[in-house]
Amino acid sequence: MLVLGIESSCDETGIALYDTDRGLIADTLYTQAELHAQYGGVVPELASRDHIRKLTPLILQTLEQANVKRQDIDGIAYTKGPGLMGALLSGTSVARSLAYALKVPAVGVHHMEGHLLAPMLEEAQPEFPFICLLVSGGHSMIVRVDGFGQYKVLGDTLDDAAGEAFDKTAKLLDLGYPGGPNVSNLALKGNSDRYQFPRPMIDRPGLDMSFSGLKTYTRNTWLKAVKDNDATEQTKADICRAFEVAVSETLTIKCKRALEQEGLNRIVIAGGVSANRAIREKLSQLMEKRRGEIFYPRLQFCTDNGAMIAYAGAQRLLAGQSNDLNFAANPRWSLEDLPAL
Ligand code: KG4
Ligand code: ZN
Repeated sequence: MLVLGIESSCDETGIALYDTDRGLIADTLYTQAELHAQYGGVVPELASRDHIRKLTPLILQTLEQANVKRQDIDGIAYTKGPGLMGALLSGTSVARSLAYALKVPAVGVHHMEGHLLAPMLEEAQPEFPFICLLVSGGHSMIVRVDGFGQYKVLGDTLDDAAGEAFDKTAKLLDLGYPGGPNVSNLALKGNSDRYQFPRPMIDRPGLDMSFSGLKTYTRNTWLKAVKDNDATEQTKADICRAFEVAVSETLTIKCKRALEQEGLNRIVIAGGVSANRAIREKLSQLMEKRRGEIFYPRLQFCTDNGAMIAYAGAQRLLAGQSNDLNFAANPRWSLEDLPAL
């Protein structure tokens, strides 16, 4: 079965073709980062308009790249939510119209399920059950995964998502948008002995996370440096380093707790923040110590992409699930509401 995947939940237009026998055969991405950078964050209306401009040319380009005719498509998978309403509607309407014209089924995919399953696009795939640390710009969750569509959210963020905390730190230090990779790159030049930032929520039981206290601590540290005439590039790098260490240690402690609580020894990290070097390293060390297994997607499939949507949708279409033609997007949607396969 050949599935066309369409991702348009935020500021990336991602298109991919996934074949259930041959695997991923094409994947293209257009990022709007430059468009939003001048505003320091995503402007929803501009995002929707840019998706509308890019969706059709990118679909044609992807078909051409794979040397596939549109009549060869057996099903369409599109991101139905969560995300920005206008951006979701752009992809949803193109997907549903194309499905109607080609007379093929279409299925609306949960964006976070796409992220969660992205490691399945790699050669070494995790077996069920596993714990997934799902960390993106909009979500930070620890999920127990027992099978396709069988998700139990064990922990969630009480305020900012991990990616949002990275983005806000970047904004505070004037490092540009999107912030995560910039904070992480500057952290490489930072001195890890200079600042000790708090590890949020680790002394509280449970698996929920909170990053707003860390955000305030980061802000106060920077404001003090400015006041002390020490607002240098090195200070910025030291702050980035301390921030990144605090986030990666907090996430690792929470994951360890989740593995112990559920009696599992297999972990998957996914979502934009799973691209982070320090977090991957810390979690890999933990799993090495526990003699457990760790899986994460290749870098390009950590952040938003069409391949993960094509893959997740293909599993649902294969199982006979599809949606009727009344198109709808779902900007707020819980992973736990998904049907199992
Ligand atoms: O999954 P994603 O592409 O979009 C959402 O679904 O939100 O995640 C984007 C988030 C942004 O907050 C970005 O700053 C963060 O992932 N991110 C990173 C890194 N690369 C992307 N955060 C930390 N380190 C990175 N290397
Ligand atoms: Zn995402």
